[in-house]
Amino acid sequence: MTRAVDIAILGAGAIGQLICRQLTAAGEHVGFIARDRQEPLSLQDSQAQQYSQSQKLSFTPLIASDDSHSPQPIDYRVPIIAANALDHIRLVIVCVKAYQVIDALLPLFHQLPRQCHILLLHNGMGPHLALAPLIEKMESRGLSLGTTSQGVLRQARWQIKQTGKGLTQLGHFTGIELAEHYRSAILAAIPNSEWVDTIVPCLWQKLAVNAAINPLTALHQCPNGALAKTDFSAIIEGILDELVTVAAQDGVPIDKPLLHDRIYQVIQLTAANFSSMHQDVAHQRQTEIDQINGYICERAQAHGLTTPINAKLCQQIKQLTVAT
Ligand code: PAF
Repeated sequence: MTRAVDIAILGAGAIGQLICRQLTAAGEHVGFIARDRQEPLSLQDSQAQQYSQSQKLSFTPLIASDDSHSPQPIDYRVPIIAANALDHIRLVIVCVKAYQVIDALLPLFHQLPRQCHILLLHNGMGPHLALAPLIEKMESRGLSLGTTSQGVLRQARWQIKQTGKGLTQLGHFTGIELAEHYRSAILAAIPNSEWVDTIVPCLWQKLAVNAAINPLTALHQCPNGALAKTDFSAIIEGILDELVTVAAQDGVPIDKPLLHDRIYQVIQLTAANFSSMHQDVAHQRQTEIDQINGYICERAQAHGLTTPINAKLCQQIKQLTVAT
């Protein structure tokens, strides 16, 4: 008897497709959850037999630095699971943008089995605070969080190319812990990944990288490497000072000099890249500013603090997206 698909991915963007490929290649049984309207492959309720559709994907692996051959794309098929046929799902990996998490997940909340675990994997922070009380209320469910710096380029709707094997950090947040089988399956499937004891500080660190790089590259229409110029050092300092103060109030002490070094290291390592926010603005798409610099402002407000530098960046990015 074939094992049922028990891991579902919500969000078939570049990261969703990459995680799907990695888990599938490691022998896990993975499918995408069909999302009505947003996804072209969406299933109607009347067609809801499980796995009645599948999608062909193409994945080009990263070239090893000592390999002179160009990597060949690998084609593979993945089941599409109808939103009302989720009975066998034990883990949902949510790979939509941060601002889509609640709208994408809540309609499925009561269709997923009671013991289904949820893992959020997106840039920015915020949705975990809204989801936590709902997860805790269900008692049998758990929430894990993660952040990934894997590089991936979407070449066509169902075609991706891996461009980097940056660190992936995952960890428990609330409710029942993720079963050991899934934990080890994820760590075995994703290269350079680790399960950490406390994930929230890792998310703040990644938030700092995004808060410094993303809005500045979008506003100045430049690649990440341009931020290494001294012209940007004062504003980067200001963004970090505010973030470190707010994080400390939130119970997350951060070593600012270490964080500062990490940001400049990312700027250097990704010098030629255009940040995701730069690309969102260039393509007139909604940005993640509310879940990046906006999250710093939101948490500041909760503690009676103000964060004028981050607030101004939010306002400038919003003006830019309205103006374009
Ligand atoms: O959002 C992004 O673009 C990336 O997270 C990062 C690390 C800033 C590199 O471009």
